[in-house]
Amino acid sequence: MKQLIILFIVIHAVYTWNTCSDESFCDRIRNQGIVSSLSLDTSFLSYNNYDVQAVLYNSDADKSFTLSISATDAEIFRIRIDDPLNPRHSVPEALDGELELAALTITEEVDRLSLAVGESLAVVEFSPFKITVYKNNEIILIINDRNKLTINSEDDVAVALDFTFPGATTAYGIPEHAEGLSLQSTEPGGLDPYRMFNADYPAYAIGTQEALYGAVPVLYGHSTTRTAGVFWLNSAQTFVDVTKQADQVQSLFVSEGGVIDVFVLTGPTFESAAKQYISLTGPAPLPQYFALGHHQSRWSYLTQDEAEEVIREFDNHDFPLDVIWLDIDYTDAFKYFTWNYTAFPDPVGMQEYINSTGRKLVLIIDPHYKVEDGYTVYETLRDNNYFVKNPDGSDYQAECWPGLSSWIDYTNPEAAAYYSSLFGMDSFANVTDIVYIWNDMNEPAVFDVDEKTMPKDVLHYGNVPHRDVHNMYGFTQTMATYSGLLARYDNTKRPFILTRAHFAGTQRYSAVWTGDNYASWEHLRISFAICLTQAIAGISFCGADVGGFTGEVTDELFQRWYQAGAWLPFYRAHSEETTERREPYLYSEEMQTRFRNAIRQRYYHLPLWYTLFYEHERYGDPVIRPLSYVFPSDPNTLDIDNEWLIGNAVLVHPVAIEGASEVDIYFPGDSNELWYSIDNDERYTGNEYVTIPVTMDSVPVFYRGGSIIARKETHRSSSAYMRSDPYTIYVFVDATGEASGTLYIDDYESFEYRNNVYNYYGLKYADGALNISKLDVAADYSEGSFTIAEIVVYAQNEGVSRAVFDDSSIYPVSYSVSKTYLKVSDLNVAVRDLLDITFE
Ligand code: NOJ
Repeated sequence: MKQLIILFIVIHAVYTWNTCSDESFCDRIRNQGIVSSLSLDTSFLSYNNYDVQAVLYNSDADKSFTLSISATDAEIFRIRIDDPLNPRHSVPEALDGELELAALTITEEVDRLSLAVGESLAVVEFSPFKITVYKNNEIILIINDRNKLTINSEDDVAVALDFTFPGATTAYGIPEHAEGLSLQSTEPGGLDPYRMFNADYPAYAIGTQEALYGAVPVLYGHSTTRTAGVFWLNSAQTFVDVTKQADQVQSLFVSEGGVIDVFVLTGPTFESAAKQYISLTGPAPLPQYFALGHHQSRWSYLTQDEAEEVIREFDNHDFPLDVIWLDIDYTDAFKYFTWNYTAFPDPVGMQEYINSTGRKLVLIIDPHYKVEDGYTVYETLRDNNYFVKNPDGSDYQAECWPGLSSWIDYTNPEAAAYYSSLFGMDSFANVTDIVYIWNDMNEPAVFDVDEKTMPKDVLHYGNVPHRDVHNMYGFTQTMATYSGLLARYDNTKRPFILTRAHFAGTQRYSAVWTGDNYASWEHLRISFAICLTQAIAGISFCGADVGGFTGEVTDELFQRWYQAGAWLPFYRAHSEETTERREPYLYSEEMQTRFRNAIRQRYYHLPLWYTLFYEHERYGDPVIRPLSYVFPSDPNTLDIDNEWLIGNAVLVHPVAIEGASEVDIYFPGDSNELWYSIDNDERYTGNEYVTIPVTMDSVPVFYRGGSIIARKETHRSSSAYMRSDPYTIYVFVDATGEASGTLYIDDYESFEYRNNVYNYYGLKYADGALNISKLDVAADYSEGSFTIAEIVVYAQNEGVSRAVFDDSSIYPVSYSVSKTYLKVSDLNVAVRDLLDITFE
């Protein structure tokens, strides 16, 4: 134990990270309380149905800036302020294509202009410049309320703007920080502002405002009556203050460079604000089914034998597994797109073996390239000027895994295209069609330098300083990896990518994980809050290294981590190279049983995860949700992040406290809400705190009354073998005796679902009858075998003796001992379009 603490302290001691006071731009704007004197110059005001163009004049500096305001149909206002003589860097890549602008109703008065769209209104006051945004006639946001708007001339490119959310009590968003879901008040409060500066920060400290691996600059001001948001589209280092007051939340965004490009998410609910954000940056495309399964990784499986052995042992010990991962050591001297043939003499043979067990392989590809003559990839990148440059025009070189390295400039379209081409079937030698990609170290991480990253003055394509694009560097890598994988599989398979660095819009290309966490209870707990925050910032596909990356995990913590991790969207065990090996089969029988049960719960619920990811792509809701997202008017939910919802129907409160013999669970909603335990006959009502006893086997999970959940319960070694397995349908009625749910099915891997090759079912239970029917009649996946093996109905069923199917077949029902549910078993009913069952 002593050793662990020393290691932890050592890791922390090595790095120091800049605070606002260490960064002169932030210190000046934030700490010195500068206020601006910008006003709108009406002589240049012009507008049409779709946008307003104006000039903002700074009388102190005698400088003018362009202002444009527009809106989308989703009732999002966009406000852009730029320097016409020296246009600032902007980040259109983060947006999911061109925005469709909405027609505005514009009214001009002497000192103000009003822009209306739907139920939303923005009133622009000319002097001092200020914008007040209304939704349904209530003020939801004031921009430049405190006159902090900052935009200066060429030699001083920092920008800032303040926002006030009247009536808000709570602030959410701006990942990635090792912080609770509900953000702390930074000022006043004596805390540093939240920093957004993608950073390689191993064993990160918890509960601080320090920057982690990603930056998604979207902030929500929330209360039990409404939610509004601000999306600050800027990829430079940014500090964000959150000021919580009795009747409002204020915020100040300060960026080191770039343009002011602000989107106002007018809500009015948490759900509508989060969906407005998704309408800008796009949803995550539906992942392949396998990606939602269980992943096993290690830095590193060092040889082919070792990797194959791991798979064999997973099978020998009956642990479901979909993917095995190879970290940097599969390469020849950390030269990406090569193999270490001494350790992996037959990569294709290995992949054939992996494939024969129904598994996939993920390979790591980092953004730094070894400086070495004769390494073709490096030479091509160098000879074509595809690397990030020093100010003097030479290639930027620094240390990373391979030693001296250079970094691909993915903002250069040709460099990105060349990199994408390296994934070609003929380019990446000895890689078969079961391979997907992990992009790591892409903040970018650089060894032995200040803040472990590139200097701000190195240059990208078009002489853009790194300062302006830092937070989107990893994003540009994943964009290029995505197109590489699309082309590799000829658009027939959905790419799977995991990235460490991320930015707004990353969800369109990649899943994320919470980086180099530590094997501690605090790190387990914070992974819930981080992934919940990511989910409301558009990135649902999130998980943490199960077991903790660094440090030795205790038996108890490891079991709890497997149990909890099964209920986050991305489920991967991974560990650092110096830790003890920790594959689940290395543990006692008792522990193995717990690991197996946890993983099996994941596999039972794969149909639910898959349906939710489909619905995310279609409707934009996050896959996992804070309680306040689903129950916005329940004040008890506001700060809860030790439990969460999967969709709207599953409440999870994993045991994440050492030695716990009980957990305190909050059941959200009003007193009509019902929650059914996954383990036993207990049910609970909403708006209640309940202390529930737990053992090492307990994973407190509850189904919401009113929901229908389709599970697959046949035990298999991988999801590849579960395709045609039958479903068990669980019905949990609400207080009125009704329930509903959905189930989505397709070929699990291609894009054919976008050509209507899928089945999407609605399941409804009312008046003692279950009805299953297609929600999209035009869509059809004819190979979709949807077989029901069993139906379990949690309802008042006294007196029911049989289930009568619509083809007149009759099945007996049985009851649980306590009569809490009835069951119809041994079914083999294939559903294609419609099924009606009456219980009588
Ligand atoms: C850092 C990553 O965060 C970690 O997961 C990985 O194992 C190492 N790099 C080595 O590639």
